[in-house]
Amino acid sequence: MNVLDEKFAEFQTLPTEEKIKCFQRDGHLFDLIISQQLNRKVLDEIYDITYQLRTKSKSKAGAIHMQNLLPHKRAMLYFSQPSSRTFLSFMGACHIVGMKTSEIRDTRVSSEIKGETYDDSLRTFSSYTDLIIMRHSQKDMAERAAWLLNTYSNRPVPVINGGSGSDQHPTQAILDIYTLQESFRNRGGLDGKTVLMCGDLRRGRTVRSLSYLMRNFEDVKIIFAAPESFQMEQDLCDFLSRNKIPYIVETEGLDNVVAEADAIYMTRIQDEHDTVAGESSKVDKTKFNLGLKQMAKVKPNAIIMHPFPRRDEIDVALDPDPRAMYWRQERNGMWTRAALIAYVFRVHDKILEY
Ligand code: NCD
Repeated sequence: MNVLDEKFAEFQTLPTEEKIKCFQRDGHLFDLIISQQLNRKVLDEIYDITYQLRTKSKSKAGAIHMQNLLPHKRAMLYFSQPSSRTFLSFMGACHIVGMKTSEIRDTRVSSEIKGETYDDSLRTFSSYTDLIIMRHSQKDMAERAAWLLNTYSNRPVPVINGGSGSDQHPTQAILDIYTLQESFRNRGGLDGKTVLMCGDLRRGRTVRSLSYLMRNFEDVKIIFAAPESFQMEQDLCDFLSRNKIPYIVETEGLDNVVAEADAIYMTRIQDEHDTVAGESSKVDKTKFNLGLKQMAKVKPNAIIMHPFPRRDEIDVALDPDPRAMYWRQERNGMWTRAALIAYVFRVHDKILEY
């Protein structure tokens, strides 16, 4: 352990509310590391910006206006874990608001391979860029980046977490909530709805980040459907209980619960996190796949979501069904991320006023 490890370990013992303060500047969102940072006011503001940005970017003049928001700023995409959607949508998002982008997608081509520490690499990146968007296979690395640059060493470069190990994926949760709110726009939004989450809940960072955001809505119910060994971790269940968000756990099969849901959020098995060979493949998860048979029981106005990539948990035969929302959900990602970047850099008024 070096002195940075020690200081970071100290930081990690802080209560979440204290950490959140370190991820702000003048009370405004600066780093986005965990979805507990997002309250209803911030979410609604980001969604308003998203709507305006998207609509106004349809014309050439509007799109050029948006590209003039941050042409003097550079963003770096540091993705040391596989990604296609999140990477491309963040890159597209940066370009929508005019930022220049650079990238490292493989630590084998960075100095980390020569023995440089993670902390030194991060400090180096911060010398060349105004924003770091990162994905990492380890849980605490986005938090460590934000702490290192903005708390420990005062190199004020915002860090946005694009997926941290099996823990969190807050921008995915932003686009997921946007998709839910928009899909239920004429039915009072997400308030009062039942959200069924299915798949690898134990190691899926998207379902964790999404569950944290449910605190911002009224009368939401959650159903966690997964085999016992893929069920949601206790810490998140405790969070829901503390916040009086009712949830039920289903371990037998999707058939028992599909009819109750207003939204069905499917996820793949996260076998990259297996600690012993065959850990995932030995579990029978066939009862948790969504096919035409299950769809016959699903409410006519329910929606089906998936953060993607998918394997066989959603039958492709469902794709033409108007309830399948996953492709739209994906498109929503780029626009909500562009809105988030504009918000972090506090240029969103120029979108709203245009
Ligand atoms: C997810 C991720 O990386 O956590 N994908 C994404 O970002 N849309 C889900 C997954 O990999 O299963």
